Amino acid sequence: MNSIIETMRECAIQISHLLKDTSTQYLESSNTSGDMQLEVDVLADQLIEKSLLELRCVKGVCSEEKPVAVYNDYPDAPYIVAYDPLDGSSLVDSDLTIGTIFGIYDNELKAPALIASGYILYGPRLEMVVAQTQVLHYRYNGTLWRNLGALQLNHKGKINAPGGTQKHWEHRHKTLIDSFFAEGYRLRYSGGMVPDLHQILIKSGGLFSYPATSDAPKGKLRKLFEVFPLAFIYEKAGGEAIDGKKRILELDIDGIHDTTPCFLGSPSEIERVRKVYE
Ligand code: AHG
Repeated sequence: MNSIIETMRECAIQISHLLKDTSTQYLESSNTSGDMQLEVDVLADQLIEKSLLELRCVKGVCSEEKPVAVYNDYPDAPYIVAYDPLDGSSLVDSDLTIGTIFGIYDNELKAPALIASGYILYGPRLEMVVAQTQVLHYRYNGTLWRNLGALQLNHKGKINAPGGTQKHWEHRHKTLIDSFFAEGYRLRYSGGMVPDLHQILIKSGGLFSYPATSDAPKGKLRKLFEVFPLAFIYEKAGGEAIDGKKRILELDIDGIHDTTPCFLGSPSEIERVRKVYE
């Protein structure tokens, strides 16, 4: 497992260079979810796939950019890695922070098999957060990855990061989000799940939501590549992650590109979500 994390660290350094060197124009192609692709989406995907498949402990990989999982020649290898090579790529042209998300699954692509996860932040600095038994925060100083220590959420926070287009929200969702603002919560939403959730972790609490909407009744964010890995990180940091009613890490999957509504945050905020959605 450590070799997977080490490989993701090496990929992070290379992708951070690619982000500086490649065009911000979209290609003619789109991925399985119908999202338009940038050159750097494709290059980051190829780099991660190739690097991970070289490891003897990796049975296969599954990318948000590809329709199916890719398996290697080591059928007895224990791990399958699901990843989103560049989450928030619509923010590349505006030069906002974007990320890579990965989840390490033990033999099967399902939530209970997730045993570690992480994300990389391409911002003013190159950083990485990895959750195994605890959630560790790393920063690259140009030569080495330095461990900055463990991240932990407070019981209650002050940040509200509400995703989705408001015109497509359910009435109860708007009431819930408004109630946080009425209490003094601050709006912090960049449109990138990785920096938005990272900010809540760094500031010790709050709520990130991407609900079911009239234009996306099953939510927008993908279970295997985005929501499960980040739910795992939030739980290990003392937070919670639910789809409104159920714990995210108990949800089934029907297909690798399944999406789900999601609410990730500190326990106090998630309790309020539960009361509204149950
Ligand atoms: P993409 O990689 O296509 O830019 O999608 C990013 C995801 C996620 O990172 C973010 O939370 C969400 O899309 C934002 O969606 P909205 O713009 O609909 O709020």
